Amino acid sequence: MDLQDKLLALLSENQKKIEDTSELADLDKIRVNLLGKKGPITEVLRGMKNLEASERPKVGSFANKVRDDLQAAIDARRGDLRADAINRKLEKETVDVTLPGTPTRVGTPHILQQVIDDLSDLFLGMGYQIVDSYEVEEDHYNFEMLNIPADHPARDMQDTFYITKELLMRTQTSAAQARTLERHDFSKGPLKMVSPGRVYRRDTDDATHSHQFHQMEGLVIDKHTTMADLKGTLLAMAQHVFGAERKIRLRPSYFPFTEPSVEVDVSCFRCGGKGCAVCKYSGWIEVLGAGMVHPNVLTAAGVDPEVYGGFAFGVGPDRLAMLKYGVDDIRSFYTDDVRFLEQFHTEG
Ligand code: DAH
Repeated sequence: MDLQDKLLALLSENQKKIEDTSELADLDKIRVNLLGKKGPITEVLRGMKNLEASERPKVGSFANKVRDDLQAAIDARRGDLRADAINRKLEKETVDVTLPGTPTRVGTPHILQQVIDDLSDLFLGMGYQIVDSYEVEEDHYNFEMLNIPADHPARDMQDTFYITKELLMRTQTSAAQARTLERHDFSKGPLKMVSPGRVYRRDTDDATHSHQFHQMEGLVIDKHTTMADLKGTLLAMAQHVFGAERKIRLRPSYFPFTEPSVEVDVSCFRCGGKGCAVCKYSGWIEVLGAGMVHPNVLTAAGVDPEVYGGFAFGVGPDRLAMLKYGVDDIRSFYTDDVRFLEQFHTEG
């Protein structure tokens, strides 16, 4: 048998072998045996030196072709075997998409945030803008602009944390009132704003006091705003929070930035006004402070009190939430006990 026949036999015999291999490892063995240094092809090529010089190129190129064909057959088979292996693996790994998933615990906005969001919604619906203002505030906006000069006794009730002599943690969201009033362009229309946020006081924490709590400030300034507008607005708020049957009552009070000033009571949502433990048997619950904006506040912000006027109010989301949900300790809102907070879970 001459070399060419030998090579042809080698080719057909091994092509079949390669086709029949079912394991990658076996295929690799065939490759090493067949094409390696000690394999039959190498042997043939080595035997070429015994050939006539004229024969060599022919046999040589034939041998190379056989080697390439075998290599190609091995590569093709390897590709098939790998694809088979992947397909088998995929078949085993099919996922049942109808199985129930792993539940994720979904949080909920903090109850105070819920109260603030709810009030914000109400006021947005009445055409107010929502103003976000600074918690670190200047003495100028927190006090001076609100008709509370340095020697005013009202400052005693609102001691706070001072960063410098002029910079402090704001004691009231009323500071946002002063800032908004100062920058409002009345040629564009009246000012209607609410501003919710945290405020700070130098207070010893107990069940009803916290050194930081929340307020929502309201301010409406226009040319013909009256106390009747204030009353209607407060009634709408009281009924929104405590129920459509609620009434409100205004009592004279004092705030440096309003004149006249009022303390606002809402008829008890628990007993409807007959008297119970919630309203301390008075039928009324005090919920906020309000009044007609003092001319000095308008003047300080560069607004002419002869032309413009309006009302302001300050309501406490903490107090509203405590009343509405029967929370007896304000500190519960701030100690982040999940068992407490989870009670106010809302869907979505
Ligand atoms: N800033 C007041 C406080 O912290 C609450 C308040 C009362 C705000 C009357 C007002 C208002 O805008 O008109 O005690």
